[in-house]
Amino acid sequence: MAFKKDFVWGAATASYQVEGAAYEDGKGLNIWDVFTHEKGRIYEDHNGDVACDQYHRYLEDIAIMKSMGIKAYRFSLSWARIMPEGTGNVNEKGIAYYNRLIDALLENGIEPYVTLYHWDLPYELHKQGGWLNPGSVEWFGEYAKVAAEAFSDRVKNFFTFNEPQCVVGLGYYTGEHAPGLKVEDKDFFEIWHNVLKAHGRAVQVLRKEAKQEIKVGLASCGAMYYPASRKAEDVEAARNMTFHVQTDAVSECIWNLGMVYDPIFRGAYPEEVIRFHGDKMPRITREDMELIAQPLDYIVQNIYNGVEIRADQEGRPVRVKRYEGFPKTAIQWPVTPECMYWGPKYLWERYAKPVIISENGMSSHDWVSVDGQVHDPARIDFMTTYLEQLEKAADEGVDLAAYFAWSLLDNFEWASGYSDRFGLVYVDYPTQKRILKDSAYFYRDYIKKWEARRTL
Ligand code: BGC
Repeated sequence: MAFKKDFVWGAATASYQVEGAAYEDGKGLNIWDVFTHEKGRIYEDHNGDVACDQYHRYLEDIAIMKSMGIKAYRFSLSWARIMPEGTGNVNEKGIAYYNRLIDALLENGIEPYVTLYHWDLPYELHKQGGWLNPGSVEWFGEYAKVAAEAFSDRVKNFFTFNEPQCVVGLGYYTGEHAPGLKVEDKDFFEIWHNVLKAHGRAVQVLRKEAKQEIKVGLASCGAMYYPASRKAEDVEAARNMTFHVQTDAVSECIWNLGMVYDPIFRGAYPEEVIRFHGDKMPRITREDMELIAQPLDYIVQNIYNGVEIRADQEGRPVRVKRYEGFPKTAIQWPVTPECMYWGPKYLWERYAKPVIISENGMSSHDWVSVDGQVHDPARIDFMTTYLEQLEKAADEGVDLAAYFAWSLLDNFEWASGYSDRFGLVYVDYPTQKRILKDSAYFYRDYIKKWEARRTL
């Protein structure tokens, strides 16, 4: 049997992408509330004011999950809904919303997995410099304490950040995401370091304040690589690419897995990063690295696609050019199921913690067919091939703990607005009607199959 007995099948979303209710019940503004209302930032100037209206429709969404047999829901807390200014005041109505959500999930046998930060920094904190302000480490700690106090009696799994790479890289370096800044390299490294420290601080606080034993991780993205063949030199070349930057381009640092995982699991930035960029990096103390390297329970990885690598004559990694017409999803991401085998395998071999796939899925241009259903055969194909690879990793002994489909629902896809649909469940935005896509039934049956084997 491939997956472990207690393997968890889930689906994921994030606060700004699904909640809506942007101005209700005392919620403060966050950087996405502001960014989306700046002209030209987002596809057709869409915004998340209403999104999927999950704030009001969470019971319906939970009923859908239950009908699909989903065992865990990964969602994120809106920091500004809980603490409108980011620090200080706590908004009881915000806490009450998440209490209702968590209670309803548990009543329906669905385990909540809570992400503290999926990109929606309170705007008040942004005005004070956001993640560039060294005080952000303690701001995040204060917020983690409030979350632990309010929810850890029922929530057993917490992720600190979602994709620090996007927070820093897209938010502050390329400017594609809120707050839309393009800082200098020096500031880039400083922000990166602050975010990792804030993660470490949150881990400490969560563990200290938790009302029961909890499990903690950080959901990372980053470039995945897989070898062109099983030959040892190709396997090593792809591994090398996965954990080490090859050039002095800052953009490589953004997406390289070693930049996040080496500090948090090994207590040090990759040696070549220091060599290439040491002069631009902030002063890094031993205490900083101890804070960043707080013990975690999982490797938590979002996986969408990867790049094929072969070794050259000297064993150096070379990208294999994709053939013309290579399969890709609506958002233009390549379809490369191999990364679902090699990614978890490389991560498990290097950091030796159980692996959670915290996001995986694809966008397609889905619509409601004449029969009233939403047929998405490409997504079923995508999930079939990616899950096959994950199963292969499990068969070969990679310790896998959970898989979360991205996403439960079509939702606000950041810079693409509502134009990219990643959901297993279709959302008709004008009416907020939900329709289970064919892939939702596929996932339901897939889960059922594994649950049936679990009892054997
Ligand atoms: C993010 C999600 C996003 C998804 C698809 C991940 O990078 O965590 O918020 O919607 O990818 O782009």
